[in-house]
Amino acid sequence: MMYTDYIGIFDSGVGGVSVLKEIVKILPQENILYFGDAKNAPYGDRTQDEIAQISLANADYLFGKGVKALVIACNTATSSAAELIREKYPDKIVLGIEPAIKPATEAHPGEDILVMATTGTLKLGKFQKHMEELRDSANLIPIPCPGLMDLVEQEDMQNPAINELLEKYIGKYRGRAKAVVLGCTHYPFVERQIREILGDVDIYNGAEGVARELMRNLDERDLRGLSPEADIIFESSDGRTETTDFYRRMLEL
Ligand code: DGL
Repeated sequence: MMYTDYIGIFDSGVGGVSVLKEIVKILPQENILYFGDAKNAPYGDRTQDEIAQISLANADYLFGKGVKALVIACNTATSSAAELIREKYPDKIVLGIEPAIKPATEAHPGEDILVMATTGTLKLGKFQKHMEELRDSANLIPIPCPGLMDLVEQEDMQNPAINELLEKYIGKYRGRAKAVVLGCTHYPFVERQIREILGDVDIYNGAEGVARELMRNLDERDLRGLSPEADIIFESSDGRTETTDFYRRMLEL
């Protein structure tokens, strides 16, 4: 089957479902093919070159199935591979998610802003450049969170190990941080726990912006889907139905 009337979305796992949720909200008539790359996860601990190759292979896979647009629902993959994918598919809609640093710094000038993301995202030149550019606007504090995506992938958001790990990474900023940028698509699933630790903070998530950008791009090319009952297909590179059932449950959560 060819998926020419579908939007392809990929992430290393369930994280991209937090982006999918926003897409479904404003584009309920779009058919979606969601690909979770569980076999190669986590991306965040890999080298930039590995992430780029894996992400390119995912894009080849989804465009090979004919999708009309691609959403890289992973900050780590976007920073390493979005440009490469756009070079390879110059005529296609290719959107990626990036940490929403700009709106956070605009709303919190001079204040402490935590940027939670994978080690891979925070290590990259692109993020470092952003930090440099915005250095005088706000105090951006990078918080690499190895292990956090792995806990989210276990589905149990009540797991005390999540609170313990978060406490270790962000506990010391309680009462000090005014805003948090969720720079990994897995982290919106633990937003409640982040708020519990930090108290009154503004949380920034780029997913809604990507969904709006997708809508704009589809409209521009007259590619909007009009399925009365949109189809959402989940696939996982580990080939297990348990994994795709998990993605579906998280969408419905
Ligand atoms: N969800 C991915 C992101 O937004 C990364 C998780 C991983 O390390 O694979 O960065």
